[in-house]
Amino acid sequence: MTYSMTESDLIPDPLESALSDPLDSEAVLSEDLQDDVEGAFSHVPVLAAEVVAALAPAPGKVYIDGTLGGAGHTRLLLEAGAAVYGIDQDPFALARAREAKLPGLTVLEGNYRDMAELLAGAGVTQVHGVLLDIGVSSFQLDDGGRGFSYHTDAPLDMRMSQSGESAYDVVNGYEEAELASIIYEYGEDRLSRRIARGIVYAREQAPIDSTVRLAEIIKRAYPGFSKGIHPARRTFQALRIHVNDELGALRDGLSAASALLAPGGRLAVISFHSLEDRIVKRFLLGDESLTPLTKRPVIAAEAEQVTNPRARSAKLRAAEKQSGQRSGTPGAA
Ligand SMILES: C[S@@+](CC[C@H](N)C(=O)[O-])C[C@H]1O[C@@H](n2cnc3c(N)ncnc32)[C@H](O)[C@@H]1O
Repeated sequence: MTYSMTESDLIPDPLESALSDPLDSEAVLSEDLQDDVEGAFSHVPVLAAEVVAALAPAPGKVYIDGTLGGAGHTRLLLEAGAAVYGIDQDPFALARAREAKLPGLTVLEGNYRDMAELLAGAGVTQVHGVLLDIGVSSFQLDDGGRGFSYHTDAPLDMRMSQSGESAYDVVNGYEEAELASIIYEYGEDRLSRRIARGIVYAREQAPIDSTVRLAEIIKRAYPGFSKGIHPARRTFQALRIHVNDELGALRDGLSAASALLAPGGRLAVISFHSLEDRIVKRFLLGDESLTPLTKRPVIAAEAEQVTNPRARSAKLRAAEKQSGQRSGTPGAA
């Protein structure tokens, strides 16, 4: 099976020209998603038209949405007549999706890194497309009890799946050097050692059990801070990435997705900061069975960036599986 789609279908001209730094760029860590999304009421799918153009959904086609979330993108695939297997690790997202009872959607609980096993359990070994819209959803950020936001006082949790080690365990249990390295590696914060030292000092007085207390401790490591982006943003991002092993899941998920694609099938990945985008870019360049659909990542048009702040840091990369890599028919066995 082959699909015909040209690059111009995927990248509208104004977007293409708006991209300044192509594949080789190592983009600076994006503005804080958390600050961007604060106040958003519900999850609006980013780069919706571009994702649909990249995945080319149609009646009879079968897709995996590895990050179901508020089912925004999934609805678009379903509206085009495709069937979708929607995966999420967040029990709250799953409950909402199940409640919606969307025709054509099969909801699967788990980590998208395990998509091969999850789909095999549903009798599916090959699909026409996979979407990953990685990171946290507006629902997760807006839910004050989850501990993702430093703007709302909440227990330090940050676990999307509600299982495993929480941010509380990391902040209160890890060695100073380990904390510093997480904050440096996943938050790219130059003051990582200072912040880690502050955390260790503070937890000796009393366990750090809330988002606001942690944010205050981090703020103290930035003595000159008065206004602008909160100093806690990078550390919160780092903890979230670590707690959910987001980069490990992305690496595994990309390999699993590539293996599940039928010849001509499409992979579309939306990332929100340079750490993720770098992994996606390198994967697409290194997987010989995939042909990138565009040289550069697609970014949101200005109008979308204005109406949906989450879109400001979004980058879409898409690729097509080469013919002859797999045989068989996508869908249920
Ligand atoms: C950015 S939101 C997706 C929003 C969705 N595309 C929409 O339009 O509504 C990311 C979702 O993916 C989930 N998620 C993130 N990492 C995951 C992983 N490794 N496995 C499964 N779900 C994951 C989160 O729980 C969240 O619900």
